[in-house]
Amino acid sequence: MCGIVGCILKEDEDVAPILFDCISKLEYRGYDSIGLATFSDNKIHIKKDKGKIIEVDNKLNLTDMPGSFGIAHVRWATHGDPSKMNSHPHVDEENTVAVVHNGIIENYLEIKEKLTLEGHVFKSETDTEVIPHLIQKFMDEKFDLEHAVRKTIEVIEGAYAIAAISTREPNKIVATRKDSPLIVGLGENGYYLASDSPAILKYAKDIIYPEKGEIVIVDREGVIVHDEFDNVVNKQIETINWTPEMAEKEGYEHFMIKEINEQATAVTNTLTQKENIQEIIDDVGDLQRVCFVACGTSYHASLTGKYLIESIAGIPTDVILASEFKYSVNTLNDKTLVVFISQSGETADSLKALDVANQTSKTLGIVNVAGSAITRRADYVIQTQAGPEIGVAATKTYVAQLTSIYLFAAVLSKNEELLSELEKVPAFIDEVLEQDDFIKELSKRYNYARDFFYLGRGYSYPTALEGALKLKEISYIHGEGYAAGELKHGPLALIDEGIPVVVILPPGDNYRKTMSNLEEVKSRGANVLALGAEGDESLKTKADVVIPINPDVKEIIAPLVYIVPLQLIAYYITLEKGHDPDKPKNLAKCVTVE
Ligand code: M6R
Repeated sequence: MCGIVGCILKEDEDVAPILFDCISKLEYRGYDSIGLATFSDNKIHIKKDKGKIIEVDNKLNLTDMPGSFGIAHVRWATHGDPSKMNSHPHVDEENTVAVVHNGIIENYLEIKEKLTLEGHVFKSETDTEVIPHLIQKFMDEKFDLEHAVRKTIEVIEGAYAIAAISTREPNKIVATRKDSPLIVGLGENGYYLASDSPAILKYAKDIIYPEKGEIVIVDREGVIVHDEFDNVVNKQIETINWTPEMAEKEGYEHFMIKEINEQATAVTNTLTQKENIQEIIDDVGDLQRVCFVACGTSYHASLTGKYLIESIAGIPTDVILASEFKYSVNTLNDKTLVVFISQSGETADSLKALDVANQTSKTLGIVNVAGSAITRRADYVIQTQAGPEIGVAATKTYVAQLTSIYLFAAVLSKNEELLSELEKVPAFIDEVLEQDDFIKELSKRYNYARDFFYLGRGYSYPTALEGALKLKEISYIHGEGYAAGELKHGPLALIDEGIPVVVILPPGDNYRKTMSNLEEVKSRGANVLALGAEGDESLKTKADVVIPINPDVKEIIAPLVYIVPLQLIAYYITLEKGHDPDKPKNLAKCVTVE
């Protein structure tokens, strides 16, 4: 959802190569345009255009810009098509102020109208362009950059993280945020601003997290944060334990396949959270209801949580899409634990719901990104230990979320057997990954397909939903996940000769019934791809093809293992189609608008 970066170097060196390196690491947040602004010789220099980073760099040579401080942006268009004119940084008409922005200014039309009447001339269709014009207007009224930014945020409504530079106050970057992420990095060679930590991992490990409405003033001497009354805020410095290599492809063709291959480690590392989870459970005390709130893949992890907590801990559990949460507010009370699951910890829909839930209930965030908004606003936090995830399609963070939920349920119900099953999961995942070549070959068989169905019962139903989401978001093939028993209540009418149906069939209580569902679709001509226990001869005779999984993977832990082949299928089908799995069209990694 757009990424912003700012950097001011302590020495008089060119900042453009560093800005470019940092902003390139945020390509997962927006990849329709890129732009940089630097300052030197009393001028703001700007290079920007629509297109992927590499294309724009080939055309404009983005690392060749003068000046030791500047700002940069990658765009995921909301207002106005991807175009050079709409790319950031945006400036006022005299080129005295340049701004990068992540978020949406909801009242930009009325501001634009007013400023136009005052003589301002706008060049773009963006909401952002009002910001440099407002800052310029307030600087004309003799406010310094910091206070011009402060006056600007009194006028604008919506979500924003902004960074601004001005020719009238060189060697300074002023930044602020509300409902969009912004971090400040204290590096050895300079000071950094960024939407997300992968941008600056190489340069700064010590991080400050500005709160809503705080103004960050960065110059060569350091960083000062002011609250809304101009008081200096003593910010806590936190150290990130991710390494720069974690945010690199490290020899893999795409981040997605690298991250699929890191899943066993993500599970192992997340299992270390057991003690933290025990402390949370002890502190929460009497718990009569659990309510998960999430979006997308995190919602599917939550659905698995409902099956698990209700069946092994006997606690009523609901799962609510964050964007639909407001209709359930009246059912919350102080005996409800509201659990927010999110990879980024910055999803706008989830944050909105969290603020509401905090008023009545205890809240827990299960989040991958340390220091993100959910971690700062929830009462309790479990940090999934998946490391940075760059591919837009969530993979390793999904299994890490599941691991946290399983640990939570096992600790809550004192279920030692489940805990020991969890320990085996990393090895099971690695066994599936050994079938990479087989799954790659298999994926070529589906080049003709326009629709896929995914069927699973019980614990395998959320896996079916997640398998279908992976396929559709990166390959653009329609995929539909169904509870296997529900198919006959309508969608069976869609099953035709050759339509691919993926059936998830781990050994366990649901096996026989799901097998009947497999036969229903097979007898109507479906091309059945089954996931089941290695050595299941009956499955081999009934399905067109089987991906064998270790028979020791019990139904209850199957979601952690059976998702892996589905991720691989989505990945390889996407490659067959010639699409980029890391950057699917229209999508961004972190959705900071409602
Ligand atoms: O960062 P979050 O987990 O809150 O994000 C929620 C969804 O936007 C996210 O899971 C999305 O569905 C992914 N693209 C799925 O791969």
